[in-house]
Amino acid sequence: TWTTGNVIDEQVARVREQIGEGTAICALSGGVDSAVAAALVQRAIGDRLTCVYVDHGLMRQDESVQIEKAFGESTGGARLVVVDAEQQFLDALAGVTDPETKRKIIGREFIRVFEKAQADILREQGVLEAEGDGSLETTENDATAFLVQGTLYPDVVESGGGEGAANIKSHHNVGGLPEDLSFELVEPLRTLFKDEVRAVGSELGLPDEIVWRQPFPGPGLGIRIIGEVTKDRLDVLRRADAIAREELTAAGLDRDIWQCPVVLLADVRSVGVQGDGRTYGHPIVLRPVTSDDAMTADWAQVPYEVLGRISTRITNQVPEINRVVLDVTSKPPGTIEWE
Ligand code: XMP
Repeated sequence: TWTTGNVIDEQVARVREQIGEGTAICALSGGVDSAVAAALVQRAIGDRLTCVYVDHGLMRQDESVQIEKAFGESTGGARLVVVDAEQQFLDALAGVTDPETKRKIIGREFIRVFEKAQADILREQGVLEAEGDGSLETTENDATAFLVQGTLYPDVVESGGGEGAANIKSHHNVGGLPEDLSFELVEPLRTLFKDEVRAVGSELGLPDEIVWRQPFPGPGLGIRIIGEVTKDRLDVLRRADAIAREELTAAGLDRDIWQCPVVLLADVRSVGVQGDGRTYGHPIVLRPVTSDDAMTADWAQVPYEVLGRISTRITNQVPEINRVVLDVTSKPPGTIEWE
């Protein structure tokens, strides 16, 4: 019979067998899948697992700190390397407005940062040659490097099909590893669905903030600023987004809605009046949706009082924003994210 306890025991045993005395690396995104995969592998091999969290500077307010904290609390022992790559991503995104170009740049920079972090770790562990010309040569002892991924059953099925959403937007993912490295994938969630992963995560003691975290796109706020991504614009969006999330949480709506992107129309301005004066600020879009699997979605009917509180607070507390608008488009025809 299927119980979370059985799944955990079985997967821990499998991972132990697969990795043996080796070491493994896992890229953490802050989402539930990679966190549960890491926690399972950590149970199997302890501190021979190193997790890498790439902070691309496109996360929401306090999010990176929360991810670090939740990770520390839930995985007693696994090592976490946090790479601060904000400036690298901002530089790479300067002047870029096209959505697909943004996605490709973010995906590319992510892989660069992750590869470098990974090479440093492998060198430290003696899997790679000490220094040298920068190329990734494995040492003579031929140790295998293991890479943990939180691939779920639907991901396996979808990549088998090889069509659909991937053609609409380029989803960023860990990929493009150097070919001369003999990486072996460890995917302890390959047979599970999302709700099962959540159950396993709870059983493993992961905090609710991680287990029930709503989906958040890999490219982060970079695809929620319509126009060029800059530090100032990110800060404005972060403040507005934090207010929206706080009010939705306070209203007890977190598990009723799938997610609520908050989108800054950075290249649009409109006239307003705040205090005694005219303003010429930016609109922000609230995009609350309900969904089962993100393939289709409905706009969520958030109560008017809650929308009203969000609007009042954002326009009072974020001076750059003088208008809050609601997106009432289903998917299709609109996608969930604006880019
Ligand atoms: P769309 O906008 O395609 O989004 O309707 C569907 C779901 O996927 C999330 N999303 C992403 N997740 N990397 C991710 O990990 C991405 O590049 C990405 N783009 C969109 C989106 O938040 C929604 O839940």
